[in-house]
Amino acid sequence: MSDFRAHFEDASFVSGYLRHGPPAFMPGHSGVLQMAGVLIRENASPDAHVLVVGAGGGLETRALAQLEPHFRFLGVDPAPRMLELAREVIGPEFSDRVDLLEGTADDAPLGPFDAATCILVLGLLPDDGSKHALLQAIRRRMKPRAPLILVDQCLDKAAADFEARLDRYASYARASGVDPQVVEQARAALAANPGLVASERNETLIEEAGFRDWEVFYVGMAWRGWLALA
Ligand SMILES: C[S@@+](CC[C@H](N)C(=O)[O-])C[C@H]1O[C@@H](n2cnc3c(N)ncnc32)[C@H](O)[C@@H]1O
Repeated sequence: MSDFRAHFEDASFVSGYLRHGPPAFMPGHSGVLQMAGVLIRENASPDAHVLVVGAGGGLETRALAQLEPHFRFLGVDPAPRMLELAREVIGPEFSDRVDLLEGTADDAPLGPFDAATCILVLGLLPDDGSKHALLQAIRRRMKPRAPLILVDQCLDKAAADFEARLDRYASYARASGVDPQVVEQARAALAANPGLVASERNETLIEEAGFRDWEVFYVGMAWRGWLALA
């Protein structure tokens, strides 16, 4: 596991996840989760069984469960501490519709699932075949034409404005009230993340994994959201 992914095993990182995590760093985070629910419902039944890949922290599962009272979920995540946090965040209100499994998409049952999400996970994997393998493992577990919601942070490391984009990322998090020291650590981790790729690369990966009819449904600074059909 790379150093970047090791954060999710770190107790102090995990305890700060809800304060310093996606809602503070990603513009429009709660709106993206709401859009995810709407787009899944557009393309799947009211009682859809949803595979949540990288379910640690529980934020998307809770938001989707709140929006759709008959959706059921299987969440997978390899980091036990992040799964523990997911259990707390999902809480007793929704726990009867949620199963959580320690592992990656490869460890999930074959389903087939009516929908899947992969939110802020793909960018953690190096582009050495691991990203492709993750998307394929997800698609293999989905019904034909079931919707995938993919959300990722994308930056082109070779672009002339790469440093300026990192500064923008840091400014946004500071404006959200994140401690400047935490922001600096996050900026350094992002700059060093071997999984960081340009958004066009993710679109190629989506197609190469066999997904069809994809569209971009969200752009927020360096973040992108795609809807794609299995
Ligand atoms: C940035 S967090 C995002 C969590 C959640 N999806 C959210 O949006 O709040 C990334 C999560 O992906 C998990 N993860 C890392 N590698 C993974 C893999 N190969 N398959 C599934 N999850 C993975 C990490 O353990 C971590 O919990």
